[in-house]
Amino acid sequence: MEVAIAGGHGKIARLLGRQLAAEDHDVRGLIRNPDHERDLHADGIEPVLCDLENADPREVIAAVSGAEAVIFAAGAGPGSGAERKQSMDLGGAVKLIAAAQADGIRRYLMVSSIGAAHPPPPGEGEVFGEYLRAKAGADRALAESGLEYTIVRPGPLTDGPPTGRVQLGAELGRREIPRADVAAILHACLFQPHTVDWTFDAIGGEHPIDEALAAL
Ligand SMILES: NC(=O)c1ccc[n+]([C@@H]2O[C@H](COP(=O)([O-])OP(=O)(O)OC[C@H]3O[C@@H](n4cnc5c(N)ncnc54)[C@H](OP(=O)(O)O)[C@@H]3O)[C@@H](O)[C@H]2O)c1
Repeated sequence: MEVAIAGGHGKIARLLGRQLAAEDHDVRGLIRNPDHERDLHADGIEPVLCDLENADPREVIAAVSGAEAVIFAAGAGPGSGAERKQSMDLGGAVKLIAAAQADGIRRYLMVSSIGAAHPPPPGEGEVFGEYLRAKAGADRALAESGLEYTIVRPGPLTDGPPTGRVQLGAELGRREIPRADVAAILHACLFQPHTVDWTFDAIGGEHPIDEALAAL
C-alpha cells in the first residue's frame, strides 16, 4: 500500500511508518524540518517537505499525490499555544482532508484525542480546551468529508513498550496508552475495511487489538 503520514517525524508516525516500511509498503512522511530527512531515510520512509500550517493547497496535494491512504499523526505539541491548536491541530488536519479529496485518495486515518467527543465550550478550559475543540473540529470535518475515515482517540500517550492489549470504545475514561499500541491500532485499521467510518476511544486495557476491533 502507498501511505502518506502527516507529522512523519512524530513518535507515533515513526513507529507506524517503520512497521509499514518493514512490510514493504511505500511510506511517505510529511515533515517541515529538513533536518528530519535523514531519520526518515534510515526508517525506510520517503521524507516529503510539507509544512501543513504554511503550505498552500497545491503543495499539500503534491505531497500526498498518488497515495492510497493518508494518516494525520501531526500535532502542534504540548508547548504550543491556542493559536497553533487552530492552525495545526484543526487547520492542518483540514488541509490534509482537502488534499485527499482533490487527489481522489479515499482513506484517511486520524489520530485524535480522548475528550474530543465532548470538548469544553468556547472560552473554557484554557489551552487544553482549545486543543480539544480543535481536535473535535477536525474529527467533525473528516466525518462530514465523504472520505473513508477512521478516527482513533487515544488517552494520554506514553513511550512504554507495546503491550498489544487495549480497550476500545466510546466514552472511555482517561487511561494511558503507549504510542506503540496506538501505532498498532492504526496499522490494524489500515488493513481492516470494516473500521471505515468508525470513531472510537483507545486506552490501555486487556484485549488483544484485533479482538478489541472485532468487538467494536
Ligand atoms: N500527548 C498525548 O498524551 C496525546 C493524547 C492523545 C492524542 N494525542 C495526539 O497524538 C498526536 C501524535 O502524538 P505523537 O506523540 O506521536 O506526536 P509528536 O511526536 O509530537 O509528533 C507530532 C509531529 O507533528 C509535526 N508538526 C508540527 N507542526 C507541523 C506542521 N506545521 N507541519 C507538519 N508537521 C508538523 C511535528 O514536527 P516538528 O518536529 O517539526 O515540530 C512532529 O513531528 C499528537 O499530535 C496529539 O494531537 C496526544
